[in-house]
Amino acid sequence: MDALKKYHEENSERYLSELLDWLRIPSISADQKYKGDVQKAAQYLSDRFAEIGMDRVEIYPTAGHPIVYAEKILGKDVPTVLVYGHYDVQPPDPLELWTSPPFEPVIRDEKIFARGSCDDKGQVYMHVKAIEAMLRNGLLNCNIKCMIEGEEEVGSASLELFCEEYKSMLDCDVILISDTALISNSIPSITTGLRGLSYVEVTVVGPNKDLHSGVYGGAVANPVNVLCSMIDSLKDSNNHITIPGFYDQVELVSQEERAAMNEAPFNEEIYKEELGIQAVMGESGYTTLERTTIRPTLDVNGIWGGYIGEGAKTVLPSNAHAKISMRLVPHQDPNEITRLFTAHFKSIAPPGVKVAVQAHHGGYPVVIPVDSLEYKAAHQAMEVSFGKAPIPQRSGGSIPIVALFEKVLGVKSILMGFGLDSDDIHSPDEHFGLFNFYKGIETIPYFYQFYAQMKKDASV
Ligand code: BES
Ligand code: MN
Ligand code: MN
Repeated sequence: MDALKKYHEENSERYLSELLDWLRIPSISADQKYKGDVQKAAQYLSDRFAEIGMDRVEIYPTAGHPIVYAEKILGKDVPTVLVYGHYDVQPPDPLELWTSPPFEPVIRDEKIFARGSCDDKGQVYMHVKAIEAMLRNGLLNCNIKCMIEGEEEVGSASLELFCEEYKSMLDCDVILISDTALISNSIPSITTGLRGLSYVEVTVVGPNKDLHSGVYGGAVANPVNVLCSMIDSLKDSNNHITIPGFYDQVELVSQEERAAMNEAPFNEEIYKEELGIQAVMGESGYTTLERTTIRPTLDVNGIWGGYIGEGAKTVLPSNAHAKISMRLVPHQDPNEITRLFTAHFKSIAPPGVKVAVQAHHGGYPVVIPVDSLEYKAAHQAMEVSFGKAPIPQRSGGSIPIVALFEKVLGVKSILMGFGLDSDDIHSPDEHFGLFNFYKGIETIPYFYQFYAQMKKDASV
């Protein structure tokens, strides 16, 4: 591993400048205007895979955005690791809140500022460079397959079909993913759970046109008022979600596990200070760590209707809209939750309005066992590179494809991410620490080394 250290030192500047070039390509999957750029970002990545000597480098077109594939196969007697990640990014809006433009990456305070720097191009690129270093130094000891998609931020619709179609090409022992966060740079952690997701858009329609709010106000249901009170009624005074059946399948986490969970380093004062809030708020009876990991949520992500232009226009709007996400925990089923939400939301509509509910993409929650060889290899890898044992911790975010990998490929994932919750992913000024980028590149080869060794020991 000394050879790797030397190689990394000699090439670290190039690693970074290549990543910055990739970050300059605005691969925004949600916006059709950027379809060409998403394609360019796929091309850039596949060129880098080819350059480092990967085989079978290919860009697979899909009904949506392309999937980049590359592999290095040594033989049947070593384990196969499938690396998954995504090169698409969230839209950068609101642009005016960025200190520097989202697709003109800059280094400030030892951090890379750009959309996608952490989520997930920066973390994918750690793998590309770790693989390069292993290949160049003859240290690769596992088969590696890389599958990097361009639709994660919009629901991974094409990837599910791709996995079904290319099941045998994707055959592997474990899936390795860096798309999550550490507790902090001095407290390494491995993500052992992700929440699921049900995402709906609701529309409340009242009168057949916008009305004068003086002439009609007081006599006709105002869809914006109605929508607000309907949403308000979805939680009681304990911030418990009121949809009948919503909690029926929720996994009951034992007192022991909850106690262990709350041992994790977390300072609520710093948390509040960083967010500029006076108090946290959530479901009664649970801590902040529990509320963001083992408990489901319901949040409005956007709400609109009526007049929002300059000045005051007196109008009673004809309709109102909201986008609502529900984060789910084991063993909630996103389809069932969407069904329960829809039935309930329609049932609470007062006479005088019509309600429509449209389902967007969703995903199943996952838990990652900590007693597998794969987990142990990741644990050891982090322990060596950080000089400290990593803590298992569930995350509040979602990566819906992880549950589908289990279902379609029958393979579990390891979530070895190197971001921080404070990296402002999906927000203005997204960033990724240089420490984190290089620490990832340093840690990944250890994973392969330990994993190959453990598999070998287990087979004799
Ligand atoms: N990488 C994130 C998920 C994540 C973030 C996991 C932080 C753990 C910690 C991923 O790119 C993402 O943003 N997922 C979406 C869901 C998707 C269907 C749009 C999410 O969690 O909102
Ligand atoms: Mn991501
Ligand atoms: Mn994301």
